Amino acid sequence: MIEISVNRDKCIKCGRCINICPDLIFYKGENGLATQNEQTCIGCGHCVSACPADAITHSLFPQDKIHKFSLADYPAPEQIMTLIKGRRSNRFMSSQQISEDMLKMIVEAAYRAPTATNSQNLEFTLITDIEKIREVTSFTIETFYNIRKLLANRVVAPITKLLMPKTFAMVPMLDRLKAEFEKGNDNVMRKATAMLIISAPKGDRFGAENANLAYQNASLMAESLGVAQFYTGFVLSATRLKKGELEKRLGIKGVMCAGMALGMPQFRFEKYTDRIDIDFTQI
Ligand SMILES: Cc1cc2nc3c(=O)[nH]c(=O)nc-3n(C[C@H](O)[C@H](O)[C@H](O)COP(=O)(O)O)c2cc1C
Repeated sequence: MIEISVNRDKCIKCGRCINICPDLIFYKGENGLATQNEQTCIGCGHCVSACPADAITHSLFPQDKIHKFSLADYPAPEQIMTLIKGRRSNRFMSSQQISEDMLKMIVEAAYRAPTATNSQNLEFTLITDIEKIREVTSFTIETFYNIRKLLANRVVAPITKLLMPKTFAMVPMLDRLKAEFEKGNDNVMRKATAMLIISAPKGDRFGAENANLAYQNASLMAESLGVAQFYTGFVLSATRLKKGELEKRLGIKGVMCAGMALGMPQFRFEKYTDRIDIDFTQI
């Protein structure tokens, strides 16, 4: 049961809590600030973070869960922009292990991301067992190779070539991927020493959005730590083709919505290239 109360002796009636609460829990009562429908609180913690007088007591946020910080400690906007521009998918990884502290910071950055209705229901699976990472690759290659066999089937090929030229054009690439893997070269997970899988409960309306926001937080943290990362879209596509299979093999309860290959880089990018000219509509 959620309990929220306002200490009226401390309250300075600034109205922040009334205006900031997404659930309309705070209101001006006859004798000062009051609360209603506490059980609808989504637990975002905005009220206790915003109150300048520390007048709000919230059962989800005892004192040790409220942290004061200085805005002066924020990186400058130019620094943030440099990080955004400098973050690249770095696929050239070494066999050096990523420190546990760095991995923890990357995962923390991911789970600090916002979630719709503050559900915080993402599942984070960090794989550091190299055998398991290889299993992810072999699952991915196997899944795509089965499709490749179907695409290149003598009867089906002329039709797929005509109707799905882009998919058909993938055949030589899938052949190369498999042949290289058999020679010991993993072009799916590269030399990643870790993989972060972000999954959401089956059927969650905002599972993919939540997971990908978490991904981006984590990728910026990885970049700032000097850890190489890239999005494992190929693996994600395979999990969608064989619904639930990889999750089952890895003991993941939900549905994989984003995946990140992680490793220490062989080199760090010190140049960025421009994207296609920015074009946006302002209305
Ligand atoms: C949804 C998504 C899927 C991706 N899948 C892969 C992948 O399977 N393998 C890979 O090496 N890179 C993958 N990438 C990385 C993109 O190729 C990369 O982000 C893009 O080329 C831009 O380069 P940058 O990340 O260095 O800015 C993926 C990126 C996204 C957003």
